[in-house]
Amino acid sequence: MEIISREQEQSQIMERTKELAIETINLSKSFGKEKKIHAVDNLNLKVKKGEVFGFVGPNGAGKTTTMKMLIGLLEPTSGSGKVAKYDILHEIINIREETGVLPEPAGFYDYLTARQNLRFYAKLYDIDSNEREKRIENLLETVGLSRAIDQKIGGFSTGMRKRFGLAQALINEPTVLFLDEPTSGIDPLGAQMMRNLIKNLNKSKSVTVFLSSHSMEEVEEICDRIAIIAKGKLLAVGSVEDLRSVVREKEGVHYLLEVQDIIPSEAVEIVKDVDGVEEVEIQYPTLKVHSNFKNGAEIAKALAKTGGTISLLEEQELTLQKLFLKIIEEA
Ligand SMILES: Nc1ncnc2c1ncn2[C@@H]1O[C@H](COP(=O)(O)OP(=O)(O)O)[C@@H](O)[C@H]1O
Ligand SMILES: [Mg+2]
Repeated sequence: MEIISREQEQSQIMERTKELAIETINLSKSFGKEKKIHAVDNLNLKVKKGEVFGFVGPNGAGKTTTMKMLIGLLEPTSGSGKVAKYDILHEIINIREETGVLPEPAGFYDYLTARQNLRFYAKLYDIDSNEREKRIENLLETVGLSRAIDQKIGGFSTGMRKRFGLAQALINEPTVLFLDEPTSGIDPLGAQMMRNLIKNLNKSKSVTVFLSSHSMEEVEEICDRIAIIAKGKLLAVGSVEDLRSVVREKEGVHYLLEVQDIIPSEAVEIVKDVDGVEEVEIQYPTLKVHSNFKNGAEIAKALAKTGGTISLLEEQELTLQKLFLKIIEEA
């Protein structure tokens, strides 16, 4: 066994995270007679190995079309891309070996059992029969379907079907997983179970996950980075914090304060004079302040000078859904 130091291990991890699992270069797809529907429009994405990457956008944004091009189900109109180092135009066979896909909608053989369905997919990958049966049982256990292993898929609930789809996507032990709306149509409990599964898979097997969703809340919970897409165009990409600071720069910061022992009109005048403050609104004892940049401490200091007390000072974070709508609105 090779023994490596922590530093070496750390630097190896750094090296690995630098590598890309998915890359698209001006990837485009147009539909229609005169190619007037720009489903995906010059998309440039870089997904790092080991990331959970969220692809968010309203219906018709181009999420499914992008995924289909990355897994070789649709030919790009122009541009190129790579998945697990392989070219999406010329090396689709290699990409199939390296990837697992949960499509939306997913079609299975409803009259076959979960085990029989997985056997079918395992055969497509030439997995030998001993290994195959073990893998099938392990996978169905992972997704919480051990008890349903010999039940027909036709009788599965939507949540069970999605989890089965995840097991199917994992049959070839992929390094990159494509999940198209993995929680759409499932009840909240089932959706949470799915999200936990995705997180665990990413951690325990270091699988790169590329998932699409129309819920910002969902991607916030499980994704390291998020890309927002609408009308085929990439609008923003980054961590939730990155996206927040983009909006903060444009929108400024909103504070909510509660004050005591202070004359309301005086409080307004004092806060207005603080550098960066744009707007002040008072409904005693509540004070709302809109600033161009973070200046909460300065506001508090100015109010304290009057002898008043501040019982609350909080920055009003935009909810992610609002953030998402804002970014899409401006497109
Ligand atoms: N096979 C197709 N023929 C014509 N238009 C299509 C086809 N597939 C998708 N589109 C159009 O491309 C756009 C993007 O669709 P899609 O990728 O399915 O979006 P999303 O998955 O984000 O909801 C939509 O306007 C859709 O109507
Ligand atoms: Mg879709």
